[in-house]
Amino acid sequence: MKAIAVEPGVADSVRVEDVETAPGPDDGLLVRTLAIGVCGTDAGIVAGSDGVAPPGEDRLIIGHESLGVVERAPDGSGFAPGDHVAGIVRRPDPVPCPCCARGEWDMCSNGRYRERGIKALHGFAATSFTVEPEFAVRVPPELGVTGVLVEPASIVAKAWRRIDDFVGRNCLEPSRVLVTGAGPIGLLAALLGAQRGFEVHVLDRVTSGPKPGLVEQLGARYHTTGVADACEGADITLECTGADQVTIDAIANSGRNGIVCLTGVSEGGYATEVDVGAINRSIVLDNDIVFGSVNANRSDYEAGIDALLRADETWRTGLITRSVPIDSATDAFTSQDGDVKTIVAFDELE
Ligand code: BGC
Repeated sequence: MKAIAVEPGVADSVRVEDVETAPGPDDGLLVRTLAIGVCGTDAGIVAGSDGVAPPGEDRLIIGHESLGVVERAPDGSGFAPGDHVAGIVRRPDPVPCPCCARGEWDMCSNGRYRERGIKALHGFAATSFTVEPEFAVRVPPELGVTGVLVEPASIVAKAWRRIDDFVGRNCLEPSRVLVTGAGPIGLLAALLGAQRGFEVHVLDRVTSGPKPGLVEQLGARYHTTGVADACEGADITLECTGADQVTIDAIANSGRNGIVCLTGVSEGGYATEVDVGAINRSIVLDNDIVFGSVNANRSDYEAGIDALLRADETWRTGLITRSVPIDSATDAFTSQDGDVKTIVAFDELE
């Protein structure tokens, strides 16, 4: 069978290889892969700046955004052949810490978690993969190929869950939401903001291609100027670029009682001068909340599926702008103009 693998830490070592067995645990569900989504984390792994191979191995099979069809399901697993599934990415740490012990592995407090296709476990980017039933999520077949968006949708569902929590515990009545970045995470964050009835503004650099239309179809406004021009004093900001200056601007721009959720994983190595005192003063005097959000637990996958089902089908499908066949999978990691979500297609939906 074919698999997409890298040598972690070595730039451009990504190859389509022949492997003997489906990556994943020996028992569990056997899943025929339909598609794998490619994201910024994969780009970092391919560039050699991220990714850890399983212990004792040199190569890592990548792929953490998955969609497949169950081919074999153990009795009592709750799944049956033909079910569409996505694999949950993170596995709890072995201790486990108090969060992992409660199934909140996305909040792992000792950092010893593992992640399929990212950290110490092979991913899902192979002709077939296996997954423990307790780490498989049933994907409604009506999502079709957009079921591959369940994992990125889970990431924004978690971010919004935490924002909802802050809002609900306080006297806040937010109305204006700023999303920085109109990539898949930004657009899905905008979708969940629009579904909550907020006035949503999305900032991105590009002036052409599918992004402006995808934002407008949500009833949101698309901006290309700057953070403050897009939505000065936003009540809620979801920073989805990881771009250094945009991140600083997003924090500095937040309004009174503002909530800023950072979701983009930056590279590091960017140094600039900022007036820390002025930023601190405005965060303190405004009661701002600035927090980071990563990964997702099972409840977030379910909330992500719910949001995707409620989205317009044409909009959902429009997020997938490029589908690369497995044999030329290495092309998927070089971004092209007009890309939103690129997927690697392993098999056709029946
Ligand atoms: C994945 C998350 C993962 C994070 C850090 C993201 O791209 O979607 O599941 O936790 O990378 O590794």
